[in-house]
Amino acid sequence: MLHVLFIFSFFPVLLHSASAPFSGQQQHPIPDPCYDEHGVSRRCVPEFVNAAFGKEVQASSTCGRPATRTCDASEPKKAHPASHLTDLNSAGNMTCWRSESFPRHSPQNVSLTLSLGKKFEVTYVSLQFCSPRPESVAIFKSMDYGKTWVPYQYYSSQCRRLYGKPSRASVTKQNEQEALCTDGHTDLYPLTGGLIAFSTLDGRPSAQDFDSSPVLQDWVTATDIRVVFSRPHLQGNRDSEVSDDGPGFFYSVGEFQVGGRCKCNGHASRCGKDKEGRLVCDCKHNTEGPECDRCKAFHYDRPWQRANAREANECMACSCNLHARRCRFNMELYKLSGRKSGGVCLNCRHNTAGRHCHYCKEGFYRDVSRPITDRRACKACDCHPVGAAGKTCNQTTGQCPCKDGVTGLTCNRCAKGYQQSRSPIAPCIKIPAVVPTPALTSTEEPADCEQYCKPPKGNYKINLKKYCKKDFVVQVNVLEMEMVGSWAKFTVNVLSVYKCRDDRVKRGDNVLWIHIKDLSCKCPKILLSRRYLVMGSSEGQGDRPGLTADKNSMVIQWRDAWTRRLRKLQRKEKKGKCVKP
Ligand SMILES: *[C@@H]1O[C@H](CO)[C@@H](O)[C@H](O)[C@H]1NC(C)=O
Ligand SMILES: *[C@@H]1O[C@H](CO)[C@@H](O)[C@H](O)[C@H]1NC(C)=O
Ligand SMILES: *[C@@H]1O[C@H](CO)[C@@H](O)[C@H](O)[C@H]1NC(C)=O
Repeated sequence: MLHVLFIFSFFPVLLHSASAPFSGQQQHPIPDPCYDEHGVSRRCVPEFVNAAFGKEVQASSTCGRPATRTCDASEPKKAHPASHLTDLNSAGNMTCWRSESFPRHSPQNVSLTLSLGKKFEVTYVSLQFCSPRPESVAIFKSMDYGKTWVPYQYYSSQCRRLYGKPSRASVTKQNEQEALCTDGHTDLYPLTGGLIAFSTLDGRPSAQDFDSSPVLQDWVTATDIRVVFSRPHLQGNRDSEVSDDGPGFFYSVGEFQVGGRCKCNGHASRCGKDKEGRLVCDCKHNTEGPECDRCKAFHYDRPWQRANAREANECMACSCNLHARRCRFNMELYKLSGRKSGGVCLNCRHNTAGRHCHYCKEGFYRDVSRPITDRRACKACDCHPVGAAGKTCNQTTGQCPCKDGVTGLTCNRCAKGYQQSRSPIAPCIKIPAVVPTPALTSTEEPADCEQYCKPPKGNYKINLKKYCKKDFVVQVNVLEMEMVGSWAKFTVNVLSVYKCRDDRVKRGDNVLWIHIKDLSCKCPKILLSRRYLVMGSSEGQGDRPGLTADKNSMVIQWRDAWTRRLRKLQRKEKKGKCVKP
């Protein structure tokens, strides 16, 4: 693991085998280290590499232009370009970069800037000198590709004077992101060996629990590393070549290493080049971004998190039952769920609705024969425009809200005991009991209907004689009935008027009165929602408005064939044929 890779444990390996083991990015092996043998996500990290290897270093000063005796850019043996800092050095054949020579009394600062091309988690920065080590060295890092720099570490025998730092400070939990200055004469970093090696985590208290220290995770993160050499070593220049170039001093480094891992936050086991040639993580666990630093689209059920040894913290897909392509994260819902699920589906399709597109939207109901993931899991309510009281049905059963007397899933038929009417408000009305018993009294009850009814039932012949005797002849549609005392009051719609002596009847809404006595003997017999021909007299009308029918009236179910016959009778009456000779 990263935090246990302290500099002393791997340094010998690096020095003796040079950079070769860290050079290329290996093809990621099968099985994928980001998943265990059961396919369960687990933390994975790219291999540990020398991130500087093969990368370009910008040196603020390089000897050779103009050429000197020891330094000539055009002559391979005397060339000391910055590329020598990060090339392959086999044992015993170190190629070195070399700065210009400066007068010993006015040395200049020289910087080496290395761009790693992406964020790395840096474990160490080391410099193998070909010249004596400088008296003072500052190491900086950038996390934003060189826009801003923060100090990483200073080495100097004059820490306070040069860098404003105490020389023997220690790191506490409170200042883990602070650069220290190491006194060049301490035993820990013997600068005389020509090596400077800075371990980013060494001595930092939280390093033992790196997984749960965002401060240190940030501390080791870098996109660029810069080292600045400030003064030659006061002990003198031991490089004999110097004298050849006259009085002066130069810095020379053979190997500039940055040991670390491509930063992928535990969600990738390798980094590679993208289409534009940029170094990026090969993200797993439903993450994306150069550092696998965000959840990939549609995987917003919980917040992005770095993986750790215990938890892979992979991004979770929103559960939308295959009805949505997009979702967003909602922190409130996430907290309410006990930090389990915070995804909210967007634009649920297939007539579904809800956070997970898990129920049917208004006007649709669940077809239980199909799984909720089915494109046709929700069926339209299809409520009858007249029979239903609304367009929204019960989402489980599909039952539309029916008007009184209406039944059926879509409210498309009349319930038992009801019959269809023409009223859109009450499309089904109760079939009235032919004998409205409550209003009958013993005195009103005819003893024998056979004798009571005249003309006898079933005699439905219409002839001129009958026609002439009547005061009105109309065709009506019976709509409703209510009881008013001993009278049944039918609401009727007069469809046509063939005859009316006293102009009391016109086409349109009207009422028809029948005494309960007559109705109970079914003379006349009348049902709702039917059309009748009513031929009656004005006798016994009293002051009731409308029409009255009794046992002597003819009330017979309408037949269209009668229209012609009635017109004929109408004409005959007009010609005076009703007047008895
Ligand atoms: C040293 O390395 C350089 C560059 O890689 C190479 O040209 C040269 O032949 C090597 N010399 C020896 C002695 O291995
Ligand atoms: C060289 O670096 C030191 C330390 O950062 C600084 O104090 C000094 O001003 C620099 N000198 C020049 C000439 O830039
Ligand atoms: C839908 O019908 C079911 C089953 O009859 C019932 O339990 C439920 O209360 C109904 N829902 C609504 C909103 O009426």
